[in-house]
Amino acid sequence: PQSPEGTENLISLTIDNQSYSVEKGQNLLQACLSLGLDLPYFCWHPAMGSVGSCRQCAVTQYQNSEDTRGRLVMSCMTPLTEGMIISLKDDKSQQFRETNIEAIMTNHPHDCPVCEEGGNCHLQDMTLMSKHINRRYSGKKRTHLNQFLGPLLNHEMNRCIGCYRCVRFYRDYCGDKDLNVFGSKSHLYFGRAESGVLQSHFSGNLAQVCPTGVFTDKPFSHHYSRKWDLQTAPAICPHCSLGCNI
Ligand code: FES
Repeated sequence: PQSPEGTENLISLTIDNQSYSVEKGQNLLQACLSLGLDLPYFCWHPAMGSVGSCRQCAVTQYQNSEDTRGRLVMSCMTPLTEGMIISLKDDKSQQFRETNIEAIMTNHPHDCPVCEEGGNCHLQDMTLMSKHINRRYSGKKRTHLNQFLGPLLNHEMNRCIGCYRCVRFYRDYCGDKDLNVFGSKSHLYFGRAESGVLQSHFSGNLAQVCPTGVFTDKPFSHHYSRKWDLQTAPAICPHCSLGCNI
């Protein structure tokens, strides 16, 4: 059967009892974001795709309109299918996301007022979106050693949330496996340079790729703060986005 004109690239789905049409070729997380829905995410990145490691983008998917239980799926790992029925606002998926962010924030330092990323931080935004307020665990936070990564990048490992973005970026876009995951279980070191030096000319982009403040822009942090006060201006510099004071 022929689709009505202009609808052949669209898929219909129901989200929290509302009907939507979205473009094909995206995953469910992208579709929700394109609709302006509040759904937190960390490990998914538009340039690197999904790995499903942070578990933050969970939603409940129902088999049909009779299904009242549904099952949790990671929206970044779920392809769109015609007629799918999902919920972001049901208790099951909301509690899962809240518990998950609580686990992440259990170890994340609350140093936002002195963090270069503060006020311009994906983790801050997603934490507020998830309405995180609990920290039931009262033990000490995990601590890691930092590395000296050269003149362009600060390194603050305690802020790591284990999303793998840095490792994937360095492998896929810098063509180097030097940035890696070390350790085991609760003491994993994500984004630690095995050789102690990041050789790639593109390593400065880690400051953008990291959703928290593990990698931050060293030249910027020495001269300014309050990233949200910056304004876009025409520039002719063909180099990186870090700014070099030349
Ligand atoms: Fe989907 Fe991380 S964004 S699991």
